[in-house]
Amino acid sequence: MTDSASRRPAGSPDGSPLHDKDRAWSGRFTEPVAQFVLQYTASIGFDRRLAHADIQASLAHASMLAAVGVLDAQDLTRIEQGLRQVLAEIDAGTFRWQVALEDVHLNVEARLTELVGDSGKRLHTARSRNDQVVTDLRLYLRGEVDRLLEGIDALQRPLLALAAANTDTVMPGYTHMQVAQPVTFGHHLLAYVEMLERDRERLIEARRRVNCLPLGAAALAGTTFPIDRERVARELGFEQVCRNSIDAVSDRDFAVEVCSAGALAMVHLSRLAEELVLWVSPGFRFVELPDRFTTGSSMMPQKRNPDVAELARGKSGRAIGNLVALLTVIKAQPLAYNKDNQEDKEALFDTIDTLRATLRAFAEMLPGMRVDRDAMRLAALQGHCTATDLAEYLVRRGMAFRDAHEAVARAVRRADELGCALPDLPLQELQAFAPNVGPDVFAVLTPEGSVAARNHLGGTAPSQVATQVRLWQKTLDQRASGSAAAPE
Ligand code: ARG
Repeated sequence: MTDSASRRPAGSPDGSPLHDKDRAWSGRFTEPVAQFVLQYTASIGFDRRLAHADIQASLAHASMLAAVGVLDAQDLTRIEQGLRQVLAEIDAGTFRWQVALEDVHLNVEARLTELVGDSGKRLHTARSRNDQVVTDLRLYLRGEVDRLLEGIDALQRPLLALAAANTDTVMPGYTHMQVAQPVTFGHHLLAYVEMLERDRERLIEARRRVNCLPLGAAALAGTTFPIDRERVARELGFEQVCRNSIDAVSDRDFAVEVCSAGALAMVHLSRLAEELVLWVSPGFRFVELPDRFTTGSSMMPQKRNPDVAELARGKSGRAIGNLVALLTVIKAQPLAYNKDNQEDKEALFDTIDTLRATLRAFAEMLPGMRVDRDAMRLAALQGHCTATDLAEYLVRRGMAFRDAHEAVARAVRRADELGCALPDLPLQELQAFAPNVGPDVFAVLTPEGSVAARNHLGGTAPSQVATQVRLWQKTLDQRASGSAAAPE
């Protein structure tokens, strides 16, 4: 080995030279690696979460080596028994992780060799940590993506349930944060179900490229041993084998894709978070969050702060940062593997952890949310929000849209002068601006009339929202029954 793995710190405490047989660094070096350098280069503080994947991959590698005749049956049995023992120790929490052994791969291998002797030393045949680490990462990530897909599904469900209960709940729709037109709350909530569905799709697509086997690339150029990569791929459930050994050890695109899909999902959640913060504020009071999801102030006794939503909003910053960090780690790296790549893990892990926790927070918070339909309706009556409905009514009565727009603008100004809402203007007042207005106009000027009239695919009408709710319910039911599950 020519990397630092072969140079564990050792040596006599007084620094005197060791005899060849005692020293733990290889013959290539004249002194052990400095203590600080060891700390600086170690990844064991964060890559131990790859331990399960590392052992799983090693088992598949060893069984392949035996199948092609590179390992004998006895070595294989010892390696398998040893690795199972290592796994048990890790799961039991009795495994002694050593920073001196740098990373998860060398920790596992060292313990294996301690347990089974020379057989353990044969495991690393036809393999490098360069293809090992990225195999582990892909295996681990595949499982994490599946959990994130479940997490997204678990949030879509309460959103859908809320939408189903609010297909005809009227609220103000905003543009520029100004009251624009009435919408139904169910419609608004389904917008988030749509966003989350795209997040799922992105993760499913990323998973396809995650699920590709690098092992066999060895350090970068492949190996002289007669390896069977397809066999390893099959055993580990990888759909494909990376076709180019140089690319296999240097590619981190798959991690970028997951970080990117994760960042976008967090950005979507930050929008929901922001809306919840607004909706619980005194200016809105559209919803009330369950007490167990709010916190008090240490000074102001009256406060109920939506901390969970605020934190979710804030945490989107990390996910964006992680994506930029990962892209920057890869940028301008010459082929093939460079130690820079060790920096891929914390960003990726943090995005996964942050997204999973945030999905869970919303999934648990939303079912306990109380919706104040009256407050929403009252807010929808502000700001002449049915002005567009009046203009469109006039168009149906033969007026050109631009003229109708102008007539209504003047009617709005009149309403403001009189200090009333547009629908409260008497018919004669309205007729002063548009002579063809009839008494039936008032039905279209209510928020309920307004939403009901937007009755087309993708519109906010309660009947459309009810249809969408039914379609979503079907989609989620099918998914639960496994018929639309993510491909392996
Ligand atoms: N800990 C390393 C990483 O995370 C493993 C690969 C190290 N390879 C090497 N040749 N130093 O990338």
